[in-house]
Amino acid sequence: MSDQPTTPASTELARGLAGVVAGRTAVCSLDGDLRYRGYSIGPLAEAADFEDVAYLLIHGELPTALEHRSFSERIRAAAHGIAPEVFEALRVLARMAPDCSPMDALRTGVSMLGQVELDLTPPPHAALVAQAERLLGQVPALLAAWIDIAAARPVAPWPDRPLAAALLERLTGRIPTPEEVAIFGTTLVLYAEHEFNASTFAARTVVSTGSDMHSGIVAAIGALKGPLHGGANEQVLEQLAAIGTADRAGPWLEEQFATRRVVMGFGHRVYKDGDVRAKLLGRLCSRLVAGVPDGVVGRSSGAGDGEALESLAAKVEQMMLARKGLRPNLDWPAARVYHALGLPVCVFTPIFVVARMSGWTAHIIEQVGDNRLIRPLSLYCGPPPREWLPRDSRESR
Ligand code: ACO
Repeated sequence: MSDQPTTPASTELARGLAGVVAGRTAVCSLDGDLRYRGYSIGPLAEAADFEDVAYLLIHGELPTALEHRSFSERIRAAAHGIAPEVFEALRVLARMAPDCSPMDALRTGVSMLGQVELDLTPPPHAALVAQAERLLGQVPALLAAWIDIAAARPVAPWPDRPLAAALLERLTGRIPTPEEVAIFGTTLVLYAEHEFNASTFAARTVVSTGSDMHSGIVAAIGALKGPLHGGANEQVLEQLAAIGTADRAGPWLEEQFATRRVVMGFGHRVYKDGDVRAKLLGRLCSRLVAGVPDGVVGRSSGAGDGEALESLAAKVEQMMLARKGLRPNLDWPAARVYHALGLPVCVFTPIFVVARMSGWTAHIIEQVGDNRLIRPLSLYCGPPPREWLPRDSRESR
């Protein structure tokens, strides 16, 4: 085989790989409707719990009642089973970097779990599935543990409840109402999977080299953290807090446009006519805010009370559509739902991680099952060919 690089006769450049079909997947489709393994997102968001959806993504079919029960038990067992040494290591890190973000703690935590489990090479399919299920339980437990550790509290036990209820209880420190659990669970279902987004593609690229699942997840968490991807849900709340009141929305937006800064929670690489997930969750968000008793809504940050925040959000939405033709993506209502549930902003993106673990692991299993190294080409734009110069003959710059 030749060592010469091969360049296609006509090289087309798609900045950011926009519009490029980079592989096949049976996990999810965005063609007209968002579907997980063929099931439309509408009914899933309305009727499925997170365990239903995670099972569907990882195993390919909706679980029977029996499968659902044993899957939920395996996830819970994994949440309970994290080695205390992992928490000890996180405690040391919390002392060294008390202000580090929970996303960094999750990235490090998953890396540690991979090391503890000796995750060296891609194992057979059944072992990969078992690893995925373990991570599904471990990651939310790690997140809740980190919040305790960062606050210098002992790590509280993981509640024996379905994942959405357990995580919400751990992150708010109170027993949530069934309505709160329902909408929180819906956010997890909506965040669970989204085809070849940046973090999923990062995970697939890592395991396409023959590397292990934990390494793929670590890369995915790193990719999700960025504000153009998962990090946007935290920035949505920061921006709403910065605007303050509806009458300040206009000048604030004009300032963003003038300085070419993006407005978080708007726009999408694939959805140009609006994100179906944002529409679904937006409706639920309004209902949640209208129905939650005083003192619960909007207690997580300085972003204002629920009703005022919703008016502000509606004003920003109208202006973004009128001025830029841009519609909200999922992060726009998700941030407001989390705020209304009393969650601190620093856990918004980590909650996205918890949900997307299901999609990431499903994609990793799919990639490993039919692997070809992911290695695209680049279009060179550097200096033309140059002659080597000995050190003494180089001119100073
Ligand atoms: N605010 C202001 N302007 C925007 C926004 C925005 N949110 N989104 C796109 N634009 C502008 C672009 O700057 C570009 O302007 P230009 O033509 O003058 O340069 C124009 O709209 C077209 O942009 P696209 O090519 O459609 O955007 P792209 O596909 O490259 O980016 C992205 C998509 C990164 C999501 C972008 O819309 C953005 O930065 N949004 C804010 C961050 C965000 O909410 N991310 C969450 C993504 S969804 C998720 O992770 C669940």
